[in-house]
Amino acid sequence: MLTKVSQIDFFWDLLLGFLNLAIGRLLPRLHVPKTDLTKKVAIITGGNSGIGFQIALEFARRGATVHLACRNASKADNAVSEITNQIPESHGRVEAHTLDTSSLASVRAFAEEWKGDIDILMHNAGVASVPEGQSLFTPDGFPLLYATNFLGPFLLTYLLEKYLAPGARIISTTSTGQYAGDISARFSLNSVTNHIEPGFHTSRKLNKKVPADADVYNNTKLMQVAFTRLLQQHFDHENGLKNQRLVHCFTPGFTSTPMVDKFNIRSFRLDPIWWILQSTVIFATDPRQGAATGVWLATTKDGGGNGGGYWDRMTRRVSKIDVTDPHIVQRLWVRWEADAGIEWR
Ligand SMILES: NC(=O)c1ccc[n+]([C@@H]2O[C@H](COP(=O)([O-])OP(=O)(O)OC[C@H]3O[C@@H](n4cnc5c(N)ncnc54)[C@H](OP(=O)(O)O)[C@@H]3O)[C@@H](O)[C@H]2O)c1
Repeated sequence: MLTKVSQIDFFWDLLLGFLNLAIGRLLPRLHVPKTDLTKKVAIITGGNSGIGFQIALEFARRGATVHLACRNASKADNAVSEITNQIPESHGRVEAHTLDTSSLASVRAFAEEWKGDIDILMHNAGVASVPEGQSLFTPDGFPLLYATNFLGPFLLTYLLEKYLAPGARIISTTSTGQYAGDISARFSLNSVTNHIEPGFHTSRKLNKKVPADADVYNNTKLMQVAFTRLLQQHFDHENGLKNQRLVHCFTPGFTSTPMVDKFNIRSFRLDPIWWILQSTVIFATDPRQGAATGVWLATTKDGGGNGGGYWDRMTRRVSKIDVTDPHIVQRLWVRWEADAGIEWR
């Protein structure tokens, strides 16, 4: 049961979060100090487009070696050229790699090829709706949005853990939509395939035959917030030293990126939120501003202080996970391990 204070904090932060979404463009611009990232190594999934591309650009500008992990090789090569054109001194420091986060085999192949320390791991790749004509499930049998936005990045973190530098930052681009996510106390602890499970993949209240993509998306974003908390606990426990490695997640706010053009007709039919987003995109903030909180969390000297939390506009906010029963949150890890086919702790 929540205390009165935390309920007030939660509803206040939820309100501010949705206000930021609606009027993000009108708010004062965020400024991220120019920390030196020379000799730092960063991986950014989905770094070829939108928010991920801006994050990659800012890391390259600060002197980091930047690895773009993207599903489309030619888009990734174009992004490398674009970054090195804009920042000529980054030539030779920006590389493209193939990674499809929706495929467990692709995640494993990427990790097998990886060598060397990682200072920043940005889980940014994401989809908000299943592309037209594509199956709701991946060949591995998981809902596409869950596999892309959450399960692949979960497995990737596990496989790359041994390469994470002692002071590494692991940051996920989540969404204000996490407030609309909801996890039940009784989801299956065994892996479930080719089925969208209410209470896990979508809100517990949802029993529609075909859920709207937004329902699945919100739960994947909520899982990113839960993972942030649990991964920080894992590192603190493993290292015995609190906050050596820092795990954060942030919402970019409503940002004008190609994502908005990728909403499919099915989404429009099932959920009015997509109509609202597409017709209000002129109020959305630009990708540079959308990326700012992530860049700040990855580069600021004290790393945003304590890890494990959710950030909006460079401010730590109370998330839906902060007001979810901790036993439910702990159970999630067991299910993720089952789905990814690993034993992590
Ligand atoms: N824009 C917003 O208002 C907003 C709000 C809240 C949260 N977010 C989050 O911000 C993140 C970035 O989105 P964005 O707005 O910048 O959209 P975007 O421009 O469409 O970028 C998404 C990136 O993810 C990549 N991607 C998608 N599926 C992938 C897969 N299976 N494997 C590897 N990469 C994959 C995309 O690759 P392709 O270029 O090949 O499609 C693209 O590079 C997402 O996690 C999204 O959920 C965005």
